[in-house]
Amino acid sequence: MRLDKFLCEMKIGTRSQVKTYIRQGLVTVNGTTASDAGQKVAETSDRICFRGQNLQYCRYVYYMLYKPKGVVSATQDNRDKTVVSLLGSCQREDIFPVGRLDKDTTGLLLLTNDGDLAHQMLSPKKHVDKTYQVTALYPLREDEKRALEEGVDIGDAKSALPARVEVLKGEKFLITIQEGRFHQIKRMLQAVGNQVMELKRVSFGGLHLDEELQPGEYRELTAEEVYAIKSSL
Ligand code: URA
Repeated sequence: MRLDKFLCEMKIGTRSQVKTYIRQGLVTVNGTTASDAGQKVAETSDRICFRGQNLQYCRYVYYMLYKPKGVVSATQDNRDKTVVSLLGSCQREDIFPVGRLDKDTTGLLLLTNDGDLAHQMLSPKKHVDKTYQVTALYPLREDEKRALEEGVDIGDAKSALPARVEVLKGEKFLITIQEGRFHQIKRMLQAVGNQVMELKRVSFGGLHLDEELQPGEYRELTAEEVYAIKSSL
């Protein structure tokens, strides 16, 4: 890859900042001061230093995003803003969201370039928990709760699998499912005669939405969080 792209991906600065650093002689490749921002480097085998510090390339990156409303869970879209664009312009080109949240759903979305992890987290065989906080039109009645816990017919060939439900207050409750069908929670609520007014994902595969994040903000996962996800699969 190009040297300026490498430096950008390593979060040294924007494309124009890293070009300045290269002009200032702050970057070396295998001990030689670099002068060409377009120089091709081998990210895993070349020794690239900035201000004398060796930059270790990470093959995979993992981000937790607090998805806001109005943004689509895609890498590219002709009409709407995408979740990937919220990471800013200085990002790797191979990052994608792990699964989808509807445009009007908020909350935890994992973004990565680790295709294997994504595949496993989305595999129905892995039974990965996804917990949503629902604000419904009406407070959840006991019979509605029971129906969701038993598995409701949402119009597909197979009923939704049993969910875990924890009523919070008024119209709010938590629901945990292990599937990821299209509009699943909305259809489950409809099936019991209620309706989703607000939907927020608060956890995914043991990963909890960081309460420090505001809608639209993101942070990298810690090594412990990545380890915990991988070992739960
Ligand atoms: N269920 C839905 O209905 N929408 C989502 O975005 C996620 C789960």
